[in-house]
Amino acid sequence: MATAVIEGSREIQKDPLAINHLDYVEFYVGNARQAAYWYQHAFGFTPTAYRGPETGHRDAASYLMEQGAIRFVLTTPLYSSSFAAEHVHRHGDGVRDIALCVDDAAAAYCEAVRRGAKGVREPVSVENADGRIVTAGIATYGDTIHTFVERKKYHGTFMPGFVAGPPRWTPSVGLECVDHCVGNVHLGNMCTYVDFYATVLGFRNVISFDDKDISTEYSALMSKVMASGDGVIKFPINEPAQGRKKSQIDEYLEYYGGAGVQHIALATNDILHTVRSLRQRGVEFLDIPKTYYDDLPRRVGEIHEPVADLAQLGILVDRDEEGYLLQIFTKPVQDRPTVFYEIIQRRGARSFGKGNFKALFEALEREQARRGNL
Ligand code: FE2
Repeated sequence: MATAVIEGSREIQKDPLAINHLDYVEFYVGNARQAAYWYQHAFGFTPTAYRGPETGHRDAASYLMEQGAIRFVLTTPLYSSSFAAEHVHRHGDGVRDIALCVDDAAAAYCEAVRRGAKGVREPVSVENADGRIVTAGIATYGDTIHTFVERKKYHGTFMPGFVAGPPRWTPSVGLECVDHCVGNVHLGNMCTYVDFYATVLGFRNVISFDDKDISTEYSALMSKVMASGDGVIKFPINEPAQGRKKSQIDEYLEYYGGAGVQHIALATNDILHTVRSLRQRGVEFLDIPKTYYDDLPRRVGEIHEPVADLAQLGILVDRDEEGYLLQIFTKPVQDRPTVFYEIIQRRGARSFGKGNFKALFEALEREQARRGNL
């Protein structure tokens, strides 16, 4: 399926699995109408399109929510006898699909399956007056999939079947794009999915953390970050490691009923504004002890943001060779302690905040203890 071109004596493969960008993230949720309200009023997304019974789609309702370049689709099943209903029953609200935009979805699917991916949806072409979209899906960890989306011949609202809603402007909180999506998998499976992303999508392992990097007195995890060739798409994969108490990854796997997306990091260019706005709207973040800020200037050196503001908002800072980053983590956004968000601002740094792991995981453990997960 790959097109070969000869340049000098070197043969260069034009990769049908070259990913243009992350297209959308779809969540299966118990009540998409209420979830949409929360993403709009708490998280600053604008509802832009809808698909459901009123638009001729009988078995599910989906709301497209947008902010910056971020597209979330919130889907709820309308009948109990559907896969989406099973998914919600098993996992609670969670991520079903991390969709990837490609030039040719059928070619991407065929090549992915040839490289060992499990196909979950053969290529389907859907047309309307605005053009044609082709989609196809492959499995990744747990019940999570990647849909390949080809939209170069489509100029309409999101996808055929979706209808743009009346303009409802929502004050944005300044979220710009998805920085990374993290998957939690069972002990011993991390390398399986590292190999999957390397072999099937041609991603590279850019950073690895072992249980010495990511451990507290009680719990531990291991993580490898897989990134696309241009580094724009980043999928860290976590697995639990042995500790004196239950790892936060084990707790997730238990409540989620298997492997799945643990957190999505959303990037902003002004984290002080974003976090202040999110807090005002009721979004809850992990509590970081004030002592974290005592030695911050010594640890990270000069930064643009006033330390007092960071301390007031609970924002963490870490530095690497290329710059620094600011980050903060929400509490889980549903009753099961599963999916949460990271808000991140990169000022040059391309790493993931290794210097914050200890403070962060101690905060997570305090939350775990409150849930009785020891
Ligand atoms: Fe993260």
